[in-house]
Amino acid sequence: MKVIYPGSFDPLTYGHIDIIERCSEQFELITVAVLINNAKVGLFTTQERLDLIRETTKHLKNVRVDSFRGLLIDYAKKIDTNIIIKGLRAVSDFEYEMQMALANKKLYPKLETFFMVSNMKYSFLSSSIVKEVSILGGDVSGFVPKVVEDSLKVKIKGGL
Ligand code: COA
Repeated sequence: MKVIYPGSFDPLTYGHIDIIERCSEQFELITVAVLINNAKVGLFTTQERLDLIRETTKHLKNVRVDSFRGLLIDYAKKIDTNIIIKGLRAVSDFEYEMQMALANKKLYPKLETFFMVSNMKYSFLSSSIVKEVSILGGDVSGFVPKVVEDSLKVKIKGGL
């Protein structure tokens, strides 16, 4: 079975990595798909996000990393993969994820959304929290891998 794990990944955290590693054990091929969102300026460029994900997941042979623009369903059709993986961290994620899953299903009935329960250790974690802690000088080593931590430091030192 082939699956897509989509997101902004600005930046990738241990919470995302936990989902990717668990998917890697269950599925034949996982495409981690970074949304190119022109409407939202991120901290990292799309290329930087792709590089960080590639570097961090290089030990997983069935993970490929790609980017997409536009609708997720169109990307799913393009790469001929009709299963989307989403992580659920807390009940608060549920309403939004349910809405997205139903809208995607309506637009593309062949599409299925599989929800994975996030690791409890990372249920509080989000990319925004990582950015905020890092910008304010806090220690993010428990939240992100070293390569992401170092890239955050470079961004912040360079005035973002
Ligand atoms: N561990 C840690 N953090 C996690 C996580 C996990 N397991 N799962 C989610 N998060 C974090 C993300 O980092 C993100 O944090 P942020 O808001 O601080 O950046 C937040 O939770 C939301 O994650 P998610 O719901 O996956 O949103 P996203 O912005 O990362 O990605 C897309 C959303 C890309 C899947 C979605 O917007 C999309 O498909 N867009 C394409 C357009 C489209 O088709 N729209 C749908 C029309 S119905």
